[in-house]
Order: sequence, then C-alpha cells, then structure tokens
Amino acid sequence: MTPDYQKIISEVFTQVRAEENLGKIPDYIPEIADISTEKFGVNFTGLNGQNFGFGDFEEKFSIQSISKVFALAYVYERLGEKLWSRVDVEPSGNPFNSLVQLEADKGIPRNPFINAGALVICDILLERCTDPKEEILAFIRNLAGDNNITFNEKVAKSEMQNSFRNSAICNFMKSFGNIRSSPADVIEIYCHLCAIEMSCKQLSKSLLFLANEGKIPGSEAQILPFSKVKRINAILLTCGFYDESGEFSFRVGLPGKSGVGGGIIALYPSHYCITVWSPKLNSKGNSYRGMKFLEEFTTQSGESIF
Ligand code: DON
Repeated sequence: MTPDYQKIISEVFTQVRAEENLGKIPDYIPEIADISTEKFGVNFTGLNGQNFGFGDFEEKFSIQSISKVFALAYVYERLGEKLWSRVDVEPSGNPFNSLVQLEADKGIPRNPFINAGALVICDILLERCTDPKEEILAFIRNLAGDNNITFNEKVAKSEMQNSFRNSAICNFMKSFGNIRSSPADVIEIYCHLCAIEMSCKQLSKSLLFLANEGKIPGSEAQILPFSKVKRINAILLTCGFYDESGEFSFRVGLPGKSGVGGGIIALYPSHYCITVWSPKLNSKGNSYRGMKFLEEFTTQSGESIF
C-alpha cells in the first residue's frame, strides 16, 4: 500500500523542527553566510501527480553543489561514455574540496560530484557550448517548467573572490592535461552554477526525471536514456554526499545530493523526488536537519531502494 506521504512529511517536519538545530552555516562564501538558521522547507513531488510542500518550500536558496547533478546530466548526454576517461565513478571518501588523491590519480577526479570532478565537467561545457551558463540555465528551466530560475551574481562573485582552493584544484588538473580551457574560465562557470537559486519546489520538479527513467513526467521529452539515468543515480548513491555518502545511504537509503546552501535532494526511482532545505550544516558539509528529516521520512514511510 502506498504510504500517506503528506501525513508522514507533516509529522516528521513538525518533529524535526521542534528538535535542537545543530551544525553551522558555512562562512567561506560571505554572500550566503547571513541566511537565517531557522529556514526549513520540504517539497515532495511524486510520479503519481502528488505535489506538496511545508515551511519555506517556495523560498529560493543557493543550490551550490546540487547544480553538479544538472551539469553532469547535460554533459553525459552530449559526450556519452567518453566522459569517463576524464572523470572516474568511485567514491572519494574525502571532503568535497580535497586535493589529496589527484596526484596519485594523475589528475583524474574520483567522481563528478567532488569539486575536482565538477570542474572537469565545467571544462567540457566550455569546450562544447557557445554559452555554457545560459545553456545550463535553459536546461534547468526546461526541466522545472519554470523560467523564474537565475544566477545570483553576488554569490558567484563572492565565491570567485574566495576560490583559492578550487583554483588550485583546477590548475593542478591542468598540469595533467585534464583541463583544456583556462582555469579562470572554468572557475567562472563553476561558481555561477553553484550560485543558481531555486526553491525546494523547483528542485523536486526539475530532478523528477531521474526518478522517471529519464523522462519529464507528463511530457514525451526523454532527457536521458534509462541506461544513463541508472548510472547517474548510482553515482548519486555512492558519491552524492562526499565522505558522508556511506552514512546517507545507511541512514536514508536513497540516492541524493547535497549542497552547502543547506539543500538536499533525494530520489526514490519510479516514485518521487523530495527536497529539503535547512542551512545549518554538519561537519561534513551536509544539512544537519536535512539528513535528520530524510532519515525519519524513509523510516516512517517504510520505503527505500534496499
Ligand atoms: O566549491 C565550493 O566550495 C562550493 N561553492 C560548492 C560546494 C558544495 O556545495 C559542496 N557541498 N556539499
């Protein structure tokens, strides 16, 4: 029997909101550091047509690393399996902005969701698109069925001014020949993708195709073939939370992706996409309340991919 998702979400939302809100707001991007710590939103979008939200589900926030999912889907569809000669598909077991494995791995990032991998994806965007930023934005707007999605230029600039570590990663990969364009151009694209602003509602709708074998529900549009969707979901499960991917899989049991803006998306293939937003992060850079909410939600609904 299908669980009563709306009732479960309402109860878990109230419960988690009443509990202590631990963690901290990241301070390395000054433009996103002054957000209220009490923001909390959830949106559920099901393949059965159900859509509902709680709390701040319509308020836009910085999607940060969740943008890496859109960029991967866009590049993978265009480049095909050749992509994997430049980015691997193994969990890194390291923080998202770590450099340590790159030397031994000769400039090939462990996966597309750590910063190194996302920077290679941005480099490919630069090689293949006339206007990468606008193309990715158009791609996301189409998935969301909503043109009201934009870059926050202040956030992008703030991150560019503080991108010493990402620049180091990018330059290091260039020394191995795995970055073709200028590192400054790659960083510019990367920081803009992180600075896209969306609400929980827009995110759930736009990523629902990954729970629907690559099709936008309700339309004939096949964004990716099922074989590629299967692979993206596998990487989300094993690498979507950096060195906390095992923990997310263990506690929640769904493929998902987090961002330092406090957002988390999670997918139950053939059923739904759910997005949670709460800005305080745990020590691994994942939303404290987001993790807690999703663990309780899949426990109460009695569903996971396992
Ligand atoms: O590269 C960075 O530092 C960030 N702007 C994006 C990182 C991010 O969201 C990692 N997520 N958990």
